[in-house]
Amino acid sequence: MQANSRTISTNQTEIHSDLEKVVRRHLENPFQHKVKKASLEIFQQIKEMADRHGGELIFDSGCGSGESTVQIAEKHRECFVVGMDKSKERIRKANEKFDAGENYLLLRAEVVDIWHLAVKNDWRLKQHYILYPNPWPKKNHFKRRWHGHPAFTDILALGGEIILRSNWKLYLEELALAAKIATGKSTTVQSISPKNYISLFEKKYFESEQELFELRVNQ
Ligand SMILES: C[S@@+](CC[C@H](N)C(=O)[O-])C[C@H]1O[C@@H](n2cnc3c(N)ncnc32)[C@H](O)[C@@H]1O
Repeated sequence: MQANSRTISTNQTEIHSDLEKVVRRHLENPFQHKVKKASLEIFQQIKEMADRHGGELIFDSGCGSGESTVQIAEKHRECFVVGMDKSKERIRKANEKFDAGENYLLLRAEVVDIWHLAVKNDWRLKQHYILYPNPWPKKNHFKRRWHGHPAFTDILALGGEIILRSNWKLYLEELALAAKIATGKSTTVQSISPKNYISLFEKKYFESEQELFELRVNQ
């Protein structure tokens, strides 16, 4: 049966005209962010498990129902993978489906808070997966996209290879430009045709015959 997931509907056809201004403003002004109390406890939980494991860290931010986190953990057995999503229901399903893993953790968390705390604690990631982030396709929602958000500076400060996938090419092209403004390094968006789906959203889009894209940012 063919899936029938809707393609991106947007009133924006080219790079957002405010991108450079917004990204430069965020780069010039440190992100002042007050994290929620609950996030302090979640961060402590991640820290304890990561310390116990001792391997390099990989984040899977906005992991949804956790398929990607488990796959990444299997591929990088020497690393500790943290899958985080703010959806209580998705994380509940993830923990129901997957047994606790030796080298991964699936937990409900606000990623903006966890990124901020990780930066403040001088954490550096080996890789950072952001798979099929909410596209916020309306032009006036630009500041909700990760590269238009003040947390973009935390994403960069966490370092490592940032691996993004989307069914909206323009989102990744914008992020590539934002990363170039910040780091001076160019990177290009690739069209991908995955044989094994890394996540449920990837499966849904692929089965709906949508074109899929990947961007890797190395700083
Ligand atoms: C389109 S879904 C993709 C899920 C998964 N990565 C996949 O590919 O199947 C985007 C996910 O990001 C999560 N998300 C969005 N903003 C978030 C935030 N600030 N903190 C944590 N999770 C967030 C949503 O709850 C949602 O599960």
